[in-house]
Parts: sequence; structure tokens; C-alpha cells
Amino acid sequence: MNLGKVNKLQHMGLGPVWVRRHGVAAGIAAGTGTGSGSGAASDVALGADSAITINTGVARASNDQQDAALAAMDWDPLEASIRECTRCGLCEGRQHAVPGVGDRAARSLFVGEGPGRNEDLQGEPFVGPAGQLLDNMLRALDLARGKDTYIANIVKCRPVGADGRDRPPTPDEVDACMPYLRRQIALIRPQVIIALGKTAAVSLLGLPADTALAGLRGEPREFDGIPLVITYHPAYLLRQPADKAKTWRDLCLAKHIIDGD
Ligand code: URA
Repeated sequence: MNLGKVNKLQHMGLGPVWVRRHGVAAGIAAGTGTGSGSGAASDVALGADSAITINTGVARASNDQQDAALAAMDWDPLEASIRECTRCGLCEGRQHAVPGVGDRAARSLFVGEGPGRNEDLQGEPFVGPAGQLLDNMLRALDLARGKDTYIANIVKCRPVGADGRDRPPTPDEVDACMPYLRRQIALIRPQVIIALGKTAAVSLLGLPADTALAGLRGEPREFDGIPLVITYHPAYLLRQPADKAKTWRDLCLAKHIIDGD
């Protein structure tokens, strides 16, 4: 096996994809995977050459086919696909994938970054301290978990760093997961999407990861023809409560859009 070539292909986002055969117990680094665990999976795969297939061009095609299938899925198969997903390395460390929660016909959709430790354990978004603040924000808008709102994340599995702490998802992890959120948005067709924090904002707008959030707030933007309001992440607000006033203004903007005034 030519490892130099394999590395280049990985950098170009062209695989390889390690496909499990004959019950190999190790994890699989699939699709665009450059997540925390993909290196580990490759090591295992290298040591188990007879049991795996390295698949480059075919794998890309199958990811495209997956994307097409996802784009037509209804809720139940979509959520099942999320729970079984191996499109990036984040699947390797997860306890639970976190598809999202709420009213599937909601007028508002809140999008966070990705599950943290608590969410990974419970399989529900925003259940830790940041979630309590989000619940308060919802209440202030006369919304509640499951009442006229849906809560989802950019990535559905917890990104965890080598130090065991939560980290932002990499661009490749975002790309791998985005078809799920796209389909959720297409199914809900909310009147407004509220991006919570920079990762959500830049991922939905297709901007570089180092874009400053402050410059994105203010005027509503658009995702797929749906107004997109950008505000601070509740976890950030726990550290910087002074910015709650700005967040309130952003939420009022979202409310005006929902109410059509
Ligand atoms: N932070 C997020 O962005 N999403 C969660 O689900 C929890 C914390």
C-alpha cells in the first residue's frame, strides 16, 4: 500500500474509506473522515489488511448516493440514519448520536454546534447548563422545547479533543454531517433559523471557520431561502453574560420574523 498517496488523497478529501468486511471489530473511518479517531482506525485497518477494502473512487460515489438518499428521507429513516452514521470519525467515540428534538412543524429552528458530554450521554441536544440558558431564551420568546421550535446541531456526534474536552467540529466533520441538517431544514421549513454561535453561523453560511461572529449579527441572512438570524451561543453567554442584551435583540428580530411584523 502506498501510504504517501493515501495521505494525499485524504488531504484532497478523496478517501480512502475503510470498509468493514467479515466482522472486523475495529472502527471505520468513512467518507470525508478526518475526525479525532480516523488515524486510529487507519492503524487498525493497516494491521488487518486481509479483512478490509480500501476504496477511493467508489467510496466518493457512495457518499454522493447517500446524500441523494438522505435528501429524500422522511423523519424516521433520517433519524435512524443519523444514529447509525459512520460518515466521519466522530462516530467512533460516541455514546449516542443526537439528531435533534422538538416540533417537526415548528416555525423556529435553533441550530447549535454539536453535542457535548451531557448530550452524548443522553442523546438530546442542549441538556447541560447551556441548555438551561437556551430553555430560558425560548421561554422569553413564548417558545419551549417541543412547542413551535426544533433544536438541532451542525454535527450530530460529540467532537472531543485528545484532552477529552469538547472541541469545535472540523470543516470535514461539518461537511460530512451537513446533509442531515439540510434534510431536517427541508422537512421542517421553519420561518426562521437561529444560528447559535460561530460554528453554526459559518457552517450555514458556508464561510471560513475563522470568520468573526460579531460581524455576522444584526441583519437577518438567509439559508436556502429561509431567514437566518445569528446570535451568540448560550455556552458563550454563560461566560460573557454582558452579551445577553445583544442576544435578546437578535431573538427579538427572530420573533418579528416569525410574527410577520
Ligand atoms: N452545545 C451545542 O452547540 N449543542 C448542544 O447540543 C449542546 C451544547
